[in-house]
Amino acid sequence: MEKRANFGSKLGIVLASAGSAVGLGNVWRFPTEVGENGGAAFILVYVLCVIILGLPLMVSEFVIGRRTHKNTADAYRELAPGSAWIFQGYLGVFTAWFILCYYGVVSGWTLKYLVSGFIGELHRVTDSADYFVQFSSSTWAPVVYMAVVMLMCHVVIVRGVQTGIERFSKLMMPLLLLIIALLVVFSFSMPGSADGLRFLLKPDFSKIDSSVILSAMGQAFFSLSIGMGCLCTYASYFTDDAKLVKTAGSVAAIDTTVAVMSGFIIFPAVFSVEAVAPDAGPGLVFITLPNVFQIAFGNVAWLGWLFSVLFYLLLLLAALTSMVSIHEPPTAFLLEHFNLRRSTATTIVTSVCIGVGMLCSLSFGLLADFRPLFGLTFFDFFDFVSAKIFLPVGGIIISLFVGWRLSSDMVFDELSNHGHLHVPRWAFSVYIFLLRWLIPLAIMAIFLKELGVF
Ligand code: PHE
Repeated sequence: MEKRANFGSKLGIVLASAGSAVGLGNVWRFPTEVGENGGAAFILVYVLCVIILGLPLMVSEFVIGRRTHKNTADAYRELAPGSAWIFQGYLGVFTAWFILCYYGVVSGWTLKYLVSGFIGELHRVTDSADYFVQFSSSTWAPVVYMAVVMLMCHVVIVRGVQTGIERFSKLMMPLLLLIIALLVVFSFSMPGSADGLRFLLKPDFSKIDSSVILSAMGQAFFSLSIGMGCLCTYASYFTDDAKLVKTAGSVAAIDTTVAVMSGFIIFPAVFSVEAVAPDAGPGLVFITLPNVFQIAFGNVAWLGWLFSVLFYLLLLLAALTSMVSIHEPPTAFLLEHFNLRRSTATTIVTSVCIGVGMLCSLSFGLLADFRPLFGLTFFDFFDFVSAKIFLPVGGIIISLFVGWRLSSDMVFDELSNHGHLHVPRWAFSVYIFLLRWLIPLAIMAIFLKELGVF
């Protein structure tokens, strides 16, 4: 039997996992949530959610993956043979597959904007809303961009764990962090930027209600890539001396820092030009910001060009490192479960994603009125089912699985690297308590809210 692949270094482990966590969710969703939900007060609630709910779940996924050194589906099979828990293993694989299909479409848009920023086209656009709608609703261009990013991701995955995923993450993550630092400096140097900062950071505790807390939780889970097979699959490549709790802490810290820094980039820039709070979602990065890049630097056009190129490069890198982590769970599953070659498994996953991704992309144009699945377009269907249903259900099952089903001794053994690391007993008890009670109940609340039950 061939030796199973693993990550070659602790730095590789942290950077690959952080690459999964840092994604489109950090750069466009987090800043707008902060702006809409009470500024620094939201950041505080968010950080609490990361520490109390996100970290224990991330550690749990690490435990499942590292203990078994197997793909997600087979990991549950090994830990709970013949039981219904195995369902979660398959769910993880499918959630990843579903997410990749529509995440690739938006990632394709970021590539398009990088290209048109680079060749100066974006700078000449007179109506950025119209430009975005024209592009996203056209038939071929978005499909081609989506296919190109899927193929970029394919090239990384096909090379395997160390020479593909690890090397890519070690190259891209430092670059991504450098770009963020540059963009923050850029943004702060713009006239009027202080108003944006003030808007972002002014704590408004009156905005914090149950619905804002639920949004903060949902954002924390999505941003940390929790609730499916990604982190579990990556952890199956961790070496036995990797420190699970410390790694989770570093990943959460990097992810949160990038999210806050993205706010520091976007808000001062938008306020310096428009003096109002920006739109949420895709409108922010594909409509408002291109406008800002045009106007922001007045007659120093090359600065606007540089800002836009760096910004869309940042988005693309963030999207790609997440896509790679979403591609790996189904690939590892096909490869190990059906004994396929890595190239064959990768090709199957990429082909299905490009096929379904095409339908998702056409949801904005040709197929906008074709809604065979619950009255939703393909894009909305894949987004809804994976992010709003599968992810929370996965989160609940993972916390119950590690909290109740796995033996505490085994979990303790894994967290302490077989007794080599000191893990305080009280901290471990708090961890198990959170997994058994608080986390499942909290996710249940998000889940019901997302479904509109309350
Ligand atoms: N965490 C990624 C982001 O912030 C998205 C993601 C979700 C990646 C689930 C992997 C798994 O965009």
